[in-house]
Amino acid sequence: MVSSDAPARSSWSGKWGFILAAAASAVGLGNVWRFPYLAAKYGGGAFLLVYVILVVTFGFTLMMAETALGRKTGQSAIGAFSSFGKKYAFIGVLASLVPFIITPYYCIIGGWVTKYMVAYIAEPAADLGVSTYFTSFIVNNNETYLWLVVFLMLTFFVVALGVQRGIERVNKVLMVALIVMSVGLSIYSATLPGGLDGLAYYLIPDFSKMSVELVVAAMGQMFFSLSLAMGIMITYGSYFQKDHDLEASVRHIEIFDTGIAILAGFMIIPAAFSVTGSADAVAAKAGPGLMFGVLPQVFQNLGIAGNIIGFIFFALVFFAALTSSISLFETCVSIVCDKFDITRKMAIIIAAAVIFVVGIFVNMGYNNLLWMDPMYSLFGFGTYQGSQLLDFFDFISNTVLMPIVALLTCLFVGYIIKPKILIEEVKQSSPFHAEKLFVVMVKYIAPVFMVVILVSYILNAAGIINL
Ligand code: TRP
Repeated sequence: MVSSDAPARSSWSGKWGFILAAAASAVGLGNVWRFPYLAAKYGGGAFLLVYVILVVTFGFTLMMAETALGRKTGQSAIGAFSSFGKKYAFIGVLASLVPFIITPYYCIIGGWVTKYMVAYIAEPAADLGVSTYFTSFIVNNNETYLWLVVFLMLTFFVVALGVQRGIERVNKVLMVALIVMSVGLSIYSATLPGGLDGLAYYLIPDFSKMSVELVVAAMGQMFFSLSLAMGIMITYGSYFQKDHDLEASVRHIEIFDTGIAILAGFMIIPAAFSVTGSADAVAAKAGPGLMFGVLPQVFQNLGIAGNIIGFIFFALVFFAALTSSISLFETCVSIVCDKFDITRKMAIIIAAAVIFVVGIFVNMGYNNLLWMDPMYSLFGFGTYQGSQLLDFFDFISNTVLMPIVALLTCLFVGYIIKPKILIEEVKQSSPFHAEKLFVVMVKYIAPVFMVVILVSYILNAAGIINL
């Protein structure tokens, strides 16, 4: 049976300890790199609106469900589900696959960020702004392997050292610096010629841009950014003390994470407008290269100031990415540890080896395996023509696995253990203000919505409908 008191488990220093730890791992490449390019690609304001609605409804419900499940059972994902019956363990297993898919490609992008950070010391900003710089760096260039390995080694090293407290302290300072820098750069960005048009594009929703694809993309991004549907919030919840307000903490994490994502959009989208000239041009360029290709064009004309701003910008992205990759890798390690019942040291070695091999493989998608075009050749997704293995991994984790895990989690909470058990868990420490929202979402709206999304994507892949 499930005991409601977690035995001798480490816990956060308090409500803010939890919020900080969760925010540090939540705020990463997803916020500063992925969110702005998705917003640019999917019609600016329309995407922003859908995203925020999803965060305060779905995101909230799932995060409450996961953290309450963790606090109730005092276990991480697999144990939390199986403590209600062995046959439910598979939900935890599916969730645990996700960090193994994300970490390798996360570190590839981390490598790109590291490269740019160093390049702003070593090369004139004018050279980095040349439009072909980014593609010639990532495509058919063995240098990317070097940066991937550097970033992987840093991640492994810190986790092996176990200096999380140190990292968290550094992180606190860097988070503040990140916010200050982002505000500064956002203001600068808006003052560039064409910047205000960019702001309008970003803030005023154009409802003709609404599509199933937009909603699916916003949903995948939300899971990724809030680190949901991969078991990590269950583990974090299991460290959460019984007398701290769970609902308020979840709200704080959402506001923090979404706030930084929106801020990154303010910084990047108007700047992209000033370089490319129109919404269509931005949307056409919106992709992984928005941050690496377009921003350097903004820094290009600033001379030495461009080098300084470029360096500070990429250094902050680097730290945001590193703290997230550390907790992603830590998640992989703890899964291996729990699953195979081996020492932490062995688990680190095994997890590092797996991530390393997969990382090199995914990186080959830009080199020897460039011909693969997996999204197009496997699924026939016309809109994905020219995709690489990295896009494929991103798709499998964010668009396929995470919605499935989220769906199963909602069904599990809504119909198997029943919402009441988690509501009581939340109420142990404080009133549950959004109780009704939670119940309606978890039982009816979220599952239906997730099924619709999954089915429409499969039909699209099969060519039966056209998104
Ligand atoms: N949320 C992180 C970001 O926005 C990425 C991420 C996904 C993550 N899952 C995670 C980080 C698990 C730490 C742990 O970049």
